[in-house]
Amino acid sequence: MNTEVRETIFQHALEWVLEAGKMIKAHINDPLTIDTKSNANDLVTTMDRDIEAFFTSNIKQIFPDHFILSEEGFGDQLDTMDGTVWIIDPIDGTMNFVHQKRNFAISVGIYQDGIGEIGFIYNVMEDVLYSAKRGEGAYKGNKKLPALNDNLNFHESIIGLNHFWLCENRLVDERVMQQLVKDVRGTRTYGSAALEFASVAEGILDGYLTLSLSPWDLAAGMVIVNEVGGMTTTIDGEKINMLGNNSVFTCNSKIHQRILESYLQEARK
Ligand code: IPD
Ligand code: CA
Ligand code: CA
Repeated sequence: MNTEVRETIFQHALEWVLEAGKMIKAHINDPLTIDTKSNANDLVTTMDRDIEAFFTSNIKQIFPDHFILSEEGFGDQLDTMDGTVWIIDPIDGTMNFVHQKRNFAISVGIYQDGIGEIGFIYNVMEDVLYSAKRGEGAYKGNKKLPALNDNLNFHESIIGLNHFWLCENRLVDERVMQQLVKDVRGTRTYGSAALEFASVAEGILDGYLTLSLSPWDLAAGMVIVNEVGGMTTTIDGEKINMLGNNSVFTCNSKIHQRILESYLQEARK
């Protein structure tokens, strides 16, 4: 993507992300209409839909030839990543949004022909914006994030994962995962994939593992983590498919291989 074009897209996206954040904050204490989707714990609110509609109408007006992949149905049905594709999660961490009124994020990744060019993850209530442009580093607010610790010791790492890994499940042997939990320094569960990616980029988590994510959960995060030298694959070490669901393993590159070989390959059913 041409740098001038990218800068124009970046500036518009930045303005819309901040504006969307203001809209959410202005209505954070309003009564919520909550619906469920795939199961009783898969929540969606009118705010998720309103924010997605806000992005899609702005994008379609200013960039009519761009495509949109998004969670709540206002985007396009895509079977290719050709062209400029905005991948949007209007609220990532809806359960946190509903129950806690914090710890959720707006996530926007912008890809050109399948390559991540721009990423924004906005922790709305803390007013912390993570952003990145491919090849130009990642930022937390105006501060450039340093490259991830190249001397990281695996036993001193903190890994983000939720508790499903430790319960009987169809993808991995939970006993191997329990061993991983014992072998690292600690684990955390934040309830927003986007914020877990941002935490990996910031180096406050050293890795994040999850059994299944959609493209909008990870598109921005992958761009941001890449820019600090981290890497993102499936839990089998394979490339992420931006048009489908994936298991995800994003991590400080220093310990990616070790976790992959000593635990994930062992655990895989
Ligand atoms: C969810 C969150 C959650 C992750 C789920 C996602 P949503 O996104 O990122 O942390 O474990 O897999 O679906 O539904 O709140 O946008
Ligand atoms: Ca999400
Ligand atoms: Ca969402």
